[in-house]
Formats: sequence, structure tokens, C-alpha cells
Amino acid sequence: MTYVHHMTTHNITPARGRLGVLLPGMGAVASTFMAGVMAARRGIHPPIGSVSQMANIRLGRREEDRNPLIRDFVSLASLDDLVFGGWDPISPNAMEAAKTAGVLQGGDLEEVAKELEGVVAMEAVFDEEWVSRLSGVRVKAIPNKWDQAVALIDDINRFREENECDRLVMVWCGSTEAYQEPSAVHASVAAFEQGLKDNDGNIAPSQIYAYAALQCDVPFANGAPNLTTDLDCVVELSKQRKVPIAGKDFKTGQTLMKTILAPGLKARMLGLRGWYSTNILGNRDGEVLDAPENFKTKEMSKLGVLGGILQPEVYPDLYGNIDHVVRINYYPPRGDNKEGWDAIDIFGWLGYEMQIKVDFLCRDSILAAPIVLDLALFMDLAHRAGESGVQEWLSFYFKAPQAAGARDAEQDVFIQQTKLKNTLREWMGEEPVTHSEVG
Ligand SMILES: NC(=O)c1ccc[n+]([C@@H]2O[C@H](COP(=O)([O-])OP(=O)(O)OC[C@H]3O[C@@H](n4cnc5c(N)ncnc54)[C@H](O)[C@@H]3O)[C@@H](O)[C@H]2O)c1
Repeated sequence: MTYVHHMTTHNITPARGRLGVLLPGMGAVASTFMAGVMAARRGIHPPIGSVSQMANIRLGRREEDRNPLIRDFVSLASLDDLVFGGWDPISPNAMEAAKTAGVLQGGDLEEVAKELEGVVAMEAVFDEEWVSRLSGVRVKAIPNKWDQAVALIDDINRFREENECDRLVMVWCGSTEAYQEPSAVHASVAAFEQGLKDNDGNIAPSQIYAYAALQCDVPFANGAPNLTTDLDCVVELSKQRKVPIAGKDFKTGQTLMKTILAPGLKARMLGLRGWYSTNILGNRDGEVLDAPENFKTKEMSKLGVLGGILQPEVYPDLYGNIDHVVRINYYPPRGDNKEGWDAIDIFGWLGYEMQIKVDFLCRDSILAAPIVLDLALFMDLAHRAGESGVQEWLSFYFKAPQAAGARDAEQDVFIQQTKLKNTLREWMGEEPVTHSEVG
């Protein structure tokens, strides 16, 4: 049997001029991201953790010895061409946000203080009903949601002009909103627009940002577990406007570990009886997630990963009876330095039980910041490649990756990585790497 691979080489417009990165939510993640890019372009620290900047990509057969950096292989905006902007209901600018977050210490902040101060937050579209633990002070005094969307569109256009941007992308780094199921107002663009005009209570602020971004032809990636990009109306609008979207929820600490470990257990056909995950976290994100309605949103996003990887329907003997529990506890002394414990109960040959304990003393925003960078650059690439709708190839970066078709997206971080790299190969007219005997 011959295998015919249908190449879908893309005609990619080169990245010329400035790329504006717009961040709704200038908190710990957003400020750490900006500070890191500023430090990298001054040569102070390399952008560690960023696949777009640090990773190589193998091309062709092994003996061909072609292994360029991804950023030399595909046309990405360079760090020097990035300009930052954003909105926040509390932080006045990125420097204040960084100080409040307390992720970066002393010298690391001083080096880039002036530049961070220059990133002034625009007034937010914010509603305490969706984030009960925060009191917004820098909020647009506009009651109607349609008018709020129009104001965001004005902000975007003004930013584009003032900063002489060639292109823009938006990455949601705002708080996790209260849990929500989609409702009738989210069923179509027309229903959503009517809902904006009617000030429909089911429309959350993050959705208004996504709407405004897409209307301005700005790709939108969703770093929080909010429904935003999953909504039918947002998917429809992204296709209509031919703009890429991606979501949801940055895959960082504990979930990253889970999607690294679980595929290994499955590869060896070891059984899993339970996975108990708990976190202590003391930053503003932890405070917001301390509210049950906001935690529910996060919980739904975190719980999905094991089923997707382990396929209990295919392997009922191994994975048909798993207790998966996820907890987040707000504990101020730790600030952004989250501690994530996992107690993993596995079983092997003749059913004998074993245990694995993971104690990950991680830094949430240090893990999330390079994801913001990669998403901004790859979403811009996708746009220039003529892609629109859900960018499933970026599922590598998400806890609850959104599927482009009817099948669920892959959760296994290794399959996600292959998908990302093979997509880049394909767009550039290279064969996928299969790791078969001859490859
Ligand atoms: N840090 C991680 O590892 C990680 C991983 C996955 C997801 N996330 C998500 O990323 C988001 C940001 O995390 P963080 O640690 O920076 O939190 P943070 O609380 O430090 O920052 C969020 C910011 O969003 C602002 N905000 C809230 N509602 C807004 C609105 N309507 N418009 C504009 N700004 C708004 C808040 O004022 C705050 O400054 C959270 O939703 C978090 O759940 C973070």
C-alpha cells in the first residue's frame, strides 16, 4: 500500500513591521511575559521555556542533518518588533502590575522598569458579577454591552495607529470568570450582537473583548478557562472574519506535569486507580479562584485531561475506575510560588498497587509567560498563513484544548508537540516526521 501525503503548503506573508500584543488583564502573567521579552531583547536573559524562540525542528530524514531553529524555519515576528498594550481594572501600568504580583525580584524589575511603566493599561470592560473577589477602579463607565464593545474596538484601532502596528494579536491574561454554560445568546453572531444591545446578563466581559478583537481582524487566544473561544458565536465570527482563535487555559504547573506523566504510564500499560491533586497558591489568581463559582470554571478545565489521555473507553481494565480530584487552596504566604502536590495511585502486574508522589514547587507566571509569547507569535503566523477558526495545532499550550472538528483535541503533551511541529513542516512544504524505521 502506498501512502500519499496531501501537502497543504501555505503561502505565508512574511512578518514585516511591528506586531502589537494586546493583553486584556495586566496581572502576574502579563507583566512577567512583558518583562521577560524586554529582558530577552536586551540580551539579559534568554527566553527560556519558549518553543518559538529556543526549539529546533528536525526536517527530512535524520541523515540529512537539517535541524534549524523554529524561528529561522518559519517567518515569525522578532522580539524587537513587539509592542505591548492592554486593559486592567486595577493595575495602572505593567510595572505596578509586576510589583503587585511580586514574581520578579529587585534587579530583574529595575532593568526594565521604565519600559514596563510605559505600558499603560487602558480602562477595562469589567463586571464584578463575574469576578466577585476584585473591585475594579479603572473601568469604562459605559453601562451597555454593545457600547462597551464599540469602545474596545476604538481602543484597538487607536492602539494600532499610535504604535504604528502592522498587525495585532490578543491574548487573554485576565482573571478566571464565574462558571458558565453557553446559552441562547451564544448560539450565533446575530444572537450575540442582539444580546450585546439588550445588555444580556449571560454575556461576560471576556466575550466582549473576543468579539471586539475579531471584528478588528485580531487573532484571539484565551489563557483562562473561561468559555470565550468555545462559544458557537465566537467560532462563527472567527471563520466569518477569517481570523484565528485558540483556547483555553494555559497549560503550566500541575496540569503540565499530569500530561507529561500520564502518557508515560499509558505507554507502559500501567493501570491508574486515582489521582489526587492539590495546590496552594497565594497570588491574585488564587484569591479569585477562592470563590467557588470561579473555581468551578478552573476545575472543569483541569479535570478533563486524564480521560482524554488514558481513554478509559478503550482500556476499561486499566483506566475504567479512576478517582480524579483537583483542589486549589488560597494561601497568601506563597504568593505566585505555587506548590502542587499529586498523589498518584497506580497498579501493575497481577494488580499490585504502587504510589507516585509529585511535589512541584513551581512558579506559575514563570511557566505561563513563554506560553503567552509563543501564542502571540504563532497566532500571528497562522493569520498570515490564511488560517481561521480554531487553531488545534496549538493545543500544546492549553489545559483544555479546543477542537477544530468533531473529535476532542489531544491532551497528551507529546502528541501535541508532534502536531505543532508537523503543522509547521506541512505549512512550509516539508514532509511530516514519523519516526518510522527509515525516517
Ligand atoms: N499563571 C498560570 O500559570 C496560569 C495558568 C493557566 C491559566 N492562567 C490564567 O491566566 C489568567 C491570569 O493569571 P494571573 O496569575 O496573571 O492572574 P492575576 O490575577 O495576577 O491577573 C489577572 C488580571 O486580570 C485583570 N482582570 C480581571 N477582569 C478583567 C477584565 N474584564 N478586563 C481586563 N482585565 C481584567 C485583573 O485585574 C488582574 O490584574 C487567570 O485567568 C489564570 O487563571 C494562569
